[in-house]
Amino acid sequence: MTRAKRMMEEQIKLVDVVVEMLDARIPLASTNPLLTQIIGQKPRIIALNKVDMAEDEQTELWLTKFRKAGIGAVKVDCATGHGVRQLVTLVQQAAQPVLDKWLKKGVRNRSVRVMIVGIPNVGKSTLINRLVGKNKVVAQNRPGVTKGQQWVTIAKGLDLLDTPGVLWPKFEDAKIGFALAVTGAVKEDVFDKGQAAELLLQWLMDKHREQLQNFYKVEVTDIQGTFAAIAKVRGFVKSGGVLDEERAREVLLRDFRTAKMGKFTIDEIDT
Ligand code: G4P
Repeated sequence: MTRAKRMMEEQIKLVDVVVEMLDARIPLASTNPLLTQIIGQKPRIIALNKVDMAEDEQTELWLTKFRKAGIGAVKVDCATGHGVRQLVTLVQQAAQPVLDKWLKKGVRNRSVRVMIVGIPNVGKSTLINRLVGKNKVVAQNRPGVTKGQQWVTIAKGLDLLDTPGVLWPKFEDAKIGFALAVTGAVKEDVFDKGQAAELLLQWLMDKHREQLQNFYKVEVTDIQGTFAAIAKVRGFVKSGGVLDEERAREVLLRDFRTAKMGKFTIDEIDT
């Protein structure tokens, strides 16, 4: 972890603006508080990604919260590209004070450098692919850039490091672990799928009971009974005619993670 932190510190030294990508469903669980420390005084922009899977009202509340805290924030859907142009504009605005400072020193035509950081699976590579896109203009290599990394000019006077900075997720408490597991931010082999499905069902029963009921067309009772009902209505039966509740658990996780069941924000701001 210390090595990862050191690497991130080195990378951040190279850039003028940092874009932190968060998953709009879990803006709290997908951040790493250490980043604030590492970034220091550098301008930082938050890109709330996967808004296609998060509750619209909650996304707006999160954007307002970040902006009130003085952090530029924008919602993006990198799967379709929505919001990517606004993100570039925001980065250019954030870079203006840096450009002004250089101008005072007589430095002109120096490109602003930006990098994307975030925990795994938030969509960093998808965003980079979109930004680099068709008009891939490779800027000259610069000192400090590790082999395999390149600066790509993505807009006038704006160079992007084509490799994202990867932050480790923080597993400080069970709530964060739950949020990371059910959204797919962490791989399935690091958590107990059955248990995650049970926690998810409990969360849905508490917060979105009607939606759950309507989606599976089952009567929502208790955990066991509801998984059995889902297995029954979906025809998940094992040999011997026993209901396959394990499959129902897997399907619940998948339907949630892929937003088939609807748009949900786990890290909610009270309205
Ligand atoms: P990373 O670099 O931060 O690790 O994330 P990456 O871009 O690999 O994206 C992780 C997954 O999230 C990918 O899906 C990607 O397609 C998906 N994704 C990225 N942005 C969005 C978004 O705005 N909305 C939605 N719905 N999905 C998004 P995958 O299943 O891992 O791969 P694939 O489906 O692209 O094959």
